[in-house]
Amino acid sequence: MSESYPDFVARFYDPVYARVRDGVDNDYYLEAITSAPGPVLEIGVGTGRLFAEALRRGADVHGIDLSPAMVERCREKLPAEARERVWVEDAVGLRTDRRFSLIVAPFRVLSHVHTPDDQIRLLDAVHGALLPGGRFIFDLYVPSLKLLLEGMPETCDFDGEHAPGRRLRRFVSSDPADLARQTNHVRMGFVWDEDDGEHRGDWELDMRFFFRFEIEHLVARSRLELATLHGDFAGGALTAESREYVVVCRRGAPVKPFRGPE
Ligand SMILES: C[S@@+](CC[C@H](N)C(=O)[O-])C[C@H]1O[C@@H](n2cnc3c(N)ncnc32)[C@H](O)[C@@H]1O
Repeated sequence: MSESYPDFVARFYDPVYARVRDGVDNDYYLEAITSAPGPVLEIGVGTGRLFAEALRRGADVHGIDLSPAMVERCREKLPAEARERVWVEDAVGLRTDRRFSLIVAPFRVLSHVHTPDDQIRLLDAVHGALLPGGRFIFDLYVPSLKLLLEGMPETCDFDGEHAPGRRLRRFVSSDPADLARQTNHVRMGFVWDEDDGEHRGDWELDMRFFFRFEIEHLVARSRLELATLHGDFAGGALTAESREYVVVCRRGAPVKPFRGPE
């Protein structure tokens, strides 16, 4: 079971990730979502970093997320009539009567799903929610061997404002990886100004890291088929320098029951 994002992380997600993530994956996902031939589901919709723009461009898109605080932020950005398009739900064991032509899980959503059992449950739930021929696209980070071995000392990766004249800083650090569980223990500290002075919120989470053939085997064990696995959002091959896995899976056409010789 993934852990819910706390309120202060949801509150400051947009200013921080507009700087540290925007520009990497937006064009890729927005193109995929807006050119899908039918309804789209975003798993781990978060605060709607991609979702709100996809909706604005006319996509028939829906979103689920495990974290109530993230869903609340997302809904606040949407026009009133679109708010029921986003709801709180765990993608592991997702159940819906709706069928989608595309399902996406952008920005490391599957790193929050730690065990192979839950990962397979998620992939099979996605399979069940896809129309025949539909696609599932997700990305994960390629682990840096240096960071796995040494961890990362505390670094300020955002120093800006959360509102005019109100400073916000984010600090991140990580321990050397737990190689047996394949997790990175990450710490985030948010320091921000309010009327009554400076506040601080700390959060720790374990991010699951993956290797290429693990992803391939995982998909092979699920009901989905692997279509492509690239090393960036421009369709580049996975190489020793790649920082992202960009994975496209497909739901094959249903196999016709065998009825014997005609
Ligand atoms: C890094 S954020 C990405 C948010 C958004 N997709 C984006 O690109 O900005 C990961 C999100 O996945 C959500 N999440 C993690 N595990 C989940 C699960 N099992 N089911 C649904 N959402 C999940 C988290 O609550 C969080 O909002």
